[in-house]
Amino acid sequence: MSGVVRNIVKAVVPKPIRDILRTLVPKPIRRQFHLTQSVRRLRKFYFGDQLRMIKPLVFHTRETHNFTYDLTETNLRYLEEVIAVVTGKTPDEIGGFIQEAINDRELRAYFDNKMALYDGQKTPSNVTSPFGRRLGWYAITRVTRPRLTVETGVERGHGALLLCAALLRNCEEGAPGRYLGTDIDPTAGYLLSGKYQAVGNILYGDSISSLKRIADPIDLFINDSDHSAEYEAEEYKAIACKLSANAVILGDNAHVTDKLARFSREANRAFLMFKEQPKDHWYPGAGIGISFPRRAGGH
Ligand SMILES: C[S@@+](CC[C@H](N)C(=O)[O-])C[C@H]1O[C@@H](n2cnc3c(N)ncnc32)[C@H](O)[C@@H]1O
Repeated sequence: MSGVVRNIVKAVVPKPIRDILRTLVPKPIRRQFHLTQSVRRLRKFYFGDQLRMIKPLVFHTRETHNFTYDLTETNLRYLEEVIAVVTGKTPDEIGGFIQEAINDRELRAYFDNKMALYDGQKTPSNVTSPFGRRLGWYAITRVTRPRLTVETGVERGHGALLLCAALLRNCEEGAPGRYLGTDIDPTAGYLLSGKYQAVGNILYGDSISSLKRIADPIDLFINDSDHSAEYEAEEYKAIACKLSANAVILGDNAHVTDKLARFSREANRAFLMFKEQPKDHWYPGAGIGISFPRRAGGH
């Protein structure tokens, strides 16, 4: 019985009669009934807003996968804390890098212009929050200054663009590095052009075969291609012997599988998982699995 119906019954039916009616219904049935009411209330309380948002957002953005959104303020703070633990920097320093990306007006203008011209088959529109958890990828790139960053699964290139923006800043500060993306889709990487392309390029074809061709040590590896558990594990296997001593691995599938956590444990590496909390969006959020070298006396 909904709250409204219950109030009407209360107002219309006198209490003594309500009590008699209650005794006529067996206790197990009353208990079932109350639990069913609780299920309805819980569904509405915990998921009502999200369910209501799906339709308007899908029609507004035309996004049916690889959704874009900002993170909540609290979630951004948690992201800073997690990356501070991974990198040994302070949360404020990490926050500084995250704000650097958010406030990069040139990057923002570039993104907006490219998206306005985008003519993909499944063209998204009104994409106003391009980076979400990838801001964590940016901060890690800025702190660790990788010479070689590899991202498997580029798609439109949200991650590629942000990673290359970080690499350009590193280069300005005397720490050059390059980005290699891999994607099976020959149209992937739309956002990687202009000045950002100067530090990055894409290897087209199956990711595992592309990874096998990489000869240089990998300092930062991001898994975001075929999200089956088996394929993800194969990617870690393919790069295991190519990782540099301080390499960091980011798994974009860690909210779905534990393959990166397992790989880390077997390789005696530390592992943390950051779970994202999208702001004003129905999507429950993905995460960043982070595998990094254990520090002496540390994690
Ligand atoms: C989730 S999207 C990547 C999103 C991207 N990292 C970003 O930041 O927006 C996954 C991409 O992986 C690619 N992909 C799927 N299977 C692949 C494979 N076996 N080898 C290489 N790329 C693959 C798809 O074409 C798709 O573009």
